[in-house]
Amino acid sequence: MEVVICRSYDEISKAAAKEIADLLNTKPDAVLGLATGSTPLGMYKELVRMHKHDGLDFSQVTTFNLDEYVGLSPDHDQSYHYFMHENLFKHINVPPQNIHVPSGTAKNHKAFCAWYEQRIKDCGGIDVQVLGIGSDGHIAFNEPTSSLGSRTRIKTLAKQTIEDNARFFKSAGEVPIYAITMGVGTIMEARKLLLLANKKNKAKAVADMVEGPVCTMCTASALQLHPDAMVFIDEDAAGELKMKDYYKWIQTKKPGAPKSA
Ligand code: F6R
Repeated sequence: MEVVICRSYDEISKAAAKEIADLLNTKPDAVLGLATGSTPLGMYKELVRMHKHDGLDFSQVTTFNLDEYVGLSPDHDQSYHYFMHENLFKHINVPPQNIHVPSGTAKNHKAFCAWYEQRIKDCGGIDVQVLGIGSDGHIAFNEPTSSLGSRTRIKTLAKQTIEDNARFFKSAGEVPIYAITMGVGTIMEARKLLLLANKKNKAKAVADMVEGPVCTMCTASALQLHPDAMVFIDEDAAGELKMKDYYKWIQTKKPGAPKSA
């Protein structure tokens, strides 16, 4: 796992967007795995800027989102369909037929989940999966104790997640209790993982993910087993890392890193 400690949220967003742009420049028909939530908003803004000003092309791209609330229709302003449309899809040239977001309103959830998994395979697998991390260490909606081999399915949200996400709704009572989410096993099959985290409330989860045991109590800890996982965090989110100085040292010793005077 490569831990990159950035000076600001803006730097996290730009570094993550650059990873995606570099991929699209070498593989224009890449398959992107995308996340919602507040963390990737800056990265999406940067990708939109790159599309509008630098001609970054999404015309051959396919996307798969991690998750969706069960019961919310795509036009609900808190659905992840709506979020993605407003913050990314409507600003870039990705063909609508190449966009996949789990359905929160499928009548047969089990069949839908099986279809979603198969669709990822049929599209050649995910090249880069973008991830945030919950304050309880979840990736997608794989709450503590979710199997590290899990596949796309319905999960019951943890109380902590409902409280954390209540900020987007009028009250905690309005946050859906169930979500349809890619599993940890599904995520781990992506060829590259980019996890973004900022702010102090993520510091413990980030430390558990990077330096804790690999265990279901912090599903993000599965990233330790991935051959190509990058973690972009700010100083606040890095606050509880024991090996923080080492991660910074590594970055200064990388070929091409700016040399200090
Ligand atoms: C969203 C998702 C979640 C979020 C996590 C952090 O698609 O899968 O795991 O990444 O809950 O959310 P924010 O970024 O709002 O702190």
